[in-house]
Amino acid sequence: MITIIILIALFSYRQNIFSTTSLPLDDEQQGLNEQITIHFSHVVAENTPKGIAAEKFKELVEEKSDGKVVVQLYPNGMLYNDENELDALRENKIQMIAPTISKVTKTLPNWQVLDLPFIIEDNNQLKKVLKGETSKSLLLELDSINVKGLTLWNNGFKQIAATTPIIEVMDFKDKRVRMMTSDILHEQFELLGAKPIATSFGDVYSGLKQNIVDAQENTISNIYSKQFHTMESHITLSNHGILAYAVMMNEDFWNSLDEDIQKIITDSLTQMQSWQFDRAEQFNDENLTYLKAIPSVEIYELNVQNKIEWKEKLSPIYSHYEKNINGHYLDDLINEIKQID
Ligand code: LMR
Repeated sequence: MITIIILIALFSYRQNIFSTTSLPLDDEQQGLNEQITIHFSHVVAENTPKGIAAEKFKELVEEKSDGKVVVQLYPNGMLYNDENELDALRENKIQMIAPTISKVTKTLPNWQVLDLPFIIEDNNQLKKVLKGETSKSLLLELDSINVKGLTLWNNGFKQIAATTPIIEVMDFKDKRVRMMTSDILHEQFELLGAKPIATSFGDVYSGLKQNIVDAQENTISNIYSKQFHTMESHITLSNHGILAYAVMMNEDFWNSLDEDIQKIITDSLTQMQSWQFDRAEQFNDENLTYLKAIPSVEIYELNVQNKIEWKEKLSPIYSHYEKNINGHYLDDLINEIKQID
């Protein structure tokens, strides 16, 4: 009996059964352990200014990190929609999102400054503002909600797409206008005499099909890529507001990354920002050309008088922002724009 016990003990020792040290990993397994995956979710189509920017970011980061970082893209709201993606990010269910600035305003009301109408007037101003000091301060505010603000991407100016022509202010009267969830956008449409309805981007198409909304504000590239013009065939080039994206990461995830990986991410974003801005402009121009060629689509421009009336109706919105939110952001933005030539 004793001999048997000794034999079993000896066998077990040789087979390393009692050993607590793990077996060395082979190369492949080590590579897998080191690989970092960034799950990046967004709500628009791939052939849009945000869709192609996400793809460019993936390409640059994977190339610069030699495949150590993998960026997994989830477009078209396939994982989260714009109502729940910020929560999912904060819970680290996904690591990266790029919501429209308006969608940050519920959590961080100062961000409403970039949604104020008729402040930024052309693409040159828009691009400079998105790289400027006000934008940088807003991105820093994301720290307070455990989010790392990385940069801003562009999707140009918002236009009005509707089932009937909306050109003069009175055309807004009682129109059910879909908007992103945002107090300042709500205020904007109320001042114009419309009935604002907040819905997520993923519900716009069905809302139109079910005749729940009559109009919306959006960029040409979003209207065209989601085929909204098939139901809202009257498009007014109002350029009344901007649509930009706040590119952000879960802060704990960000802090867990080595400095060299953080640098690869920020370098990639810096490298591609001007390219993204130009592509956004190009997308909107090209898509407008496509829309103009569709016989059922009517495109309108605001004349000087229309613009004066829109601005007059909307004028209380600035003091509303200053009183309720934070006056200094608006002053800073206006000063910043004044210095742009
Ligand atoms: C919208 O909800 O209309 C936009 O924010 C969608 C987007 O991400 O461009």
